[in-house]
Amino acid sequence: MIEKKWWMQAVGYQIYPRTFYDTNQDGVGDLRGIITKLDYLNELGIDLIWIGPFYRSPMDDNGYDVSDFYDVDPMFGSLDDAKELIEKAHAKGIRIILDLVLNHTSDEHPWFMEARSSVDNPKRDYYIWQKGKEVEGKLLPPTNWGSFFEGSAWNYDAKTEEFYMKIFSNKMPDLNWANPELREEMFKVARWWLDQGVDGFRVDAIAHLARDLSFTDSELPLNDHGVAPDWGKFSNREELFDYIHEFNEKVLSHYDCMSVGEVGGGAKIEAGVRYAGYDAQAFNMVFNFDHCWSKGGMDILNDDDKMIVDVVQLKENMAYWINGMKDKGWLPHYWLNHDHPRVISQYGDPEHHHRLSGMMLGTILLTLPGTPFIYNGEEIGMTNVDYESIDDFKDVWVKNNAPALLKKYPLELVLRHLRRTSRDNARTPMQWTDEVYAGFSTVEPIQKINRNRSWLNVEAQEKDEQSILNHYRRLIHLRKNPEYLETLVFGDFALLDPKNPDVYAYTRTSSQKKITVIANFRPTTIKFEHQAKALCLSNYLDTKLNVTELRPYEAIVFEE
Ligand code: GLC
Ligand code: CA
Repeated sequence: MIEKKWWMQAVGYQIYPRTFYDTNQDGVGDLRGIITKLDYLNELGIDLIWIGPFYRSPMDDNGYDVSDFYDVDPMFGSLDDAKELIEKAHAKGIRIILDLVLNHTSDEHPWFMEARSSVDNPKRDYYIWQKGKEVEGKLLPPTNWGSFFEGSAWNYDAKTEEFYMKIFSNKMPDLNWANPELREEMFKVARWWLDQGVDGFRVDAIAHLARDLSFTDSELPLNDHGVAPDWGKFSNREELFDYIHEFNEKVLSHYDCMSVGEVGGGAKIEAGVRYAGYDAQAFNMVFNFDHCWSKGGMDILNDDDKMIVDVVQLKENMAYWINGMKDKGWLPHYWLNHDHPRVISQYGDPEHHHRLSGMMLGTILLTLPGTPFIYNGEEIGMTNVDYESIDDFKDVWVKNNAPALLKKYPLELVLRHLRRTSRDNARTPMQWTDEVYAGFSTVEPIQKINRNRSWLNVEAQEKDEQSILNHYRRLIHLRKNPEYLETLVFGDFALLDPKNPDVYAYTRTSSQKKITVIANFRPTTIKFEHQAKALCLSNYLDTKLNVTELRPYEAIVFEE
């Protein structure tokens, strides 16, 4: 029997502060905006929020490039606002976790400014420096390793004539976790925020803290940028687990807090258990990305019309983690975060079955075992962007990579590609009303709003019993209902008909109840037989107990 903790029963909600709600009318979301919307979250049934980074930052990567961990960026408000937010959320029974960025700082962080000033500066070793390689009179980076956001994993610094490591953008130098003094500094940051009353952390990019310190070239073939995309050089490496254990021992274990690490692709169950096993003394959960890309390849040349969701793969990837972690560790579930396309555009059908497919996706998320996280706007079925100009895309990845794409492909193809893959898809302003700035602000927002705000918004869905929003409310209500909680949160999970190419179906079983969830992923009627005893919830009003076929995107929760 596992020990039951508050965060296991929580329903989480991720807020991207920049585009959630603007209270001082400068076009940027702010902390007071989150305070204003606490009642909205409360009515939805949310009791845990993860807020994206709001530390002081030059915003090269929208706040993941931190220049002061102990202050709030003026763009988002003040420290007093943060404290008030924590207090007011707690008063409503909502816990708050922050995004803790441990892998890197901004190049404008005072540590880095000192570090780059001379090779013998005491902060030099907080970062990772190497000399370049002279090849045929040219100075090349120390290794051929690639980075996630642009070209090499190294950037040259003229002042001291060395390269610093950076696996994200040039403005995000990597911290050197092999240095014990640096580790203490980062632990201090975490403690300080826990002492301000936050309830834990989503720990950013956690897989990368340890690197191959032999700094030898990768053997992998070089990509278009002339670098090797060899993430193994700085992902899921042995020493990383020592750092996490130390973090747990010195910080996390002293608080009643929760932690969820982000490990991205590449990690398997063995690593998952080391990151977030019940006995691992590491984190409470880890996010993986395995279920995020089951709609064809997201390759630039793939034709939109021909891409359909690979339901079998999606089920397999999710079941792999659920079954693999069973009795070993707790899992978080989510459809998307701020780095992914909108799930309704990926796996649903916003054009022809917006309401039904949005409800269907919510049905799955909220009936899986583990802790669900809803991403802001998902609960109304917000969609990918409709941008027609490259300039509308604001993400640092697009800025760094669009020029090369445009040299290779026609504009229309690049735009189509970005409209389905870009991180901007999840970052447009929250659509609160049908007003010109979607009730997000009264001035032009920092990021362009989707035109569908005219019909797709919170206000319209509040009034409509059969909206996605109200369905999410019903689902959360069901999950939290004491009669169902034991089964839906803690119960066993088993796929039904795993090879069915169109239907995602499973049972949830506890000593108290058996629940069956059946979801059609297609815009067409699909044959499927099931005989149930009672209906809990459906996205159709006339679902019968004797099922012979499923209507488009039909999603049913039965009780047996
Ligand atoms: C994580 C964040 C992402 C950010 C990156 C670097 O993957 O989710 O938004 O760009 O880390 O901090
Ligand atoms: Ca603002």
